[in-house]
Amino acid sequence: TEPLRLGIAGLGTVGVGVVKIVRQKARLLNARAGRPIEIVAVSARTRDKDRGVNLSHYDWEDDPVKLATRDDVDVFVELMGGSDGPAKAATEAALAAGKHVVTANKAMLAIHGQALAEAAEEAGRLIRFEAAVAGGIPVIKALTEGLAGNEITRVMGVMNGTCNYILTRMQSAGLTYEEAFSEADGLGYLEADPELDVGGIDAGHKLAILSSIAFGTQVNFAGVELEGIGAITIEDIRQAADMGYRIKLLGVAQMTGRGLEQRMSPCLVPAASPLGQLEGGTNMVVLEGDEVGQIVLRGAGAGEGPTASAVMGDVMDIARGLSLPTFGIPASALSEAHPAQGTVP
Ligand code: NAP
Ligand code: HSE
Repeated sequence: TEPLRLGIAGLGTVGVGVVKIVRQKARLLNARAGRPIEIVAVSARTRDKDRGVNLSHYDWEDDPVKLATRDDVDVFVELMGGSDGPAKAATEAALAAGKHVVTANKAMLAIHGQALAEAAEEAGRLIRFEAAVAGGIPVIKALTEGLAGNEITRVMGVMNGTCNYILTRMQSAGLTYEEAFSEADGLGYLEADPELDVGGIDAGHKLAILSSIAFGTQVNFAGVELEGIGAITIEDIRQAADMGYRIKLLGVAQMTGRGLEQRMSPCLVPAASPLGQLEGGTNMVVLEGDEVGQIVLRGAGAGEGPTASAVMGDVMDIARGLSLPTFGIPASALSEAHPAQGTVP
């Protein structure tokens, strides 16, 4: 049987995690996909860097675009990050060259998701991004597959592990913001630009992507009402605790008669509730469907293993020949997302 050949650009936290899974679980993946999964080439900024994994079996490309368009690559795995620059250029080049794309890059999808999905459809290829939202939680698969018979009425959740880690460590261990931040850094949770995390932007990107899938609308990040955790003090956290609450960076999206409401902001949640008890880098996504009612998904939202797990889920879908549209319905059929006028009650 023909192997599925991967070209991986980005060998940081997530890229190294993917390399490890492909190497260490080769037999399991082969059995499940019915064909071998092989890495043929890799790319990153610096070649001579000990990444804790043996890369000597793979060709090295300095240029991610060159990697993405190699004749022997079937799937371009984009794990560099950044909404534009090399990530976008290489993704576009890969699709134009007839490659499938798997990416964890929510920043790119939140801004360019519509255009990239259209490019993929025109090329008859797939762009898949399970890892982009809530790390290891297969929330995109839940929405596009398991809940396909539902009208989705609301999507909510804690979708940034860094913010949840900082807020819970400040609350439970009395750490300063800086101490909790550096612990999150050590766990590999942070974006290259941490302001994306603490400013709520990263979580807003994820909410916009989920809204598109849930409500059949074009990704509209600009329509997300955003507020980060930068202004939250230890005193706020203590006062909330005294009243029986926790502060969480919570996202809510719902379709109303006035348009699509999307909000990502610090909220008070009851301390004893599942959201209130959510600790560390854990994420929680709550999906509400008219038939199924409420579903709660909880799991690691960041870090090497969980994020690589989601990337591999997409790789395996492609290896098995599954071809669901990117946002659940063809990109060309997504309607415009009109932001709701006025504030969310
Ligand atoms: P990271 O640790 O910072 O690694 C980024 C990798 O990309 C590095 O290997 C870097 O090369 C390479 N790179 C950066 N700019 C490049 C360029 N211009 N040309 C070639 N290579 C370049 O990032 P990460 O945490 O693995 O995240 C990767 C992606 O996954 C991002 O889109 C991120 O948002 C997303 N994601 C991350 C997590 C997580 O928990 N970390 C979870 C979900 C999604 P060097 O190593 O040589 O510097
Ligand atoms: N920086 C992100 C977070 C990584 O902390 O949740 C996962 O998307």
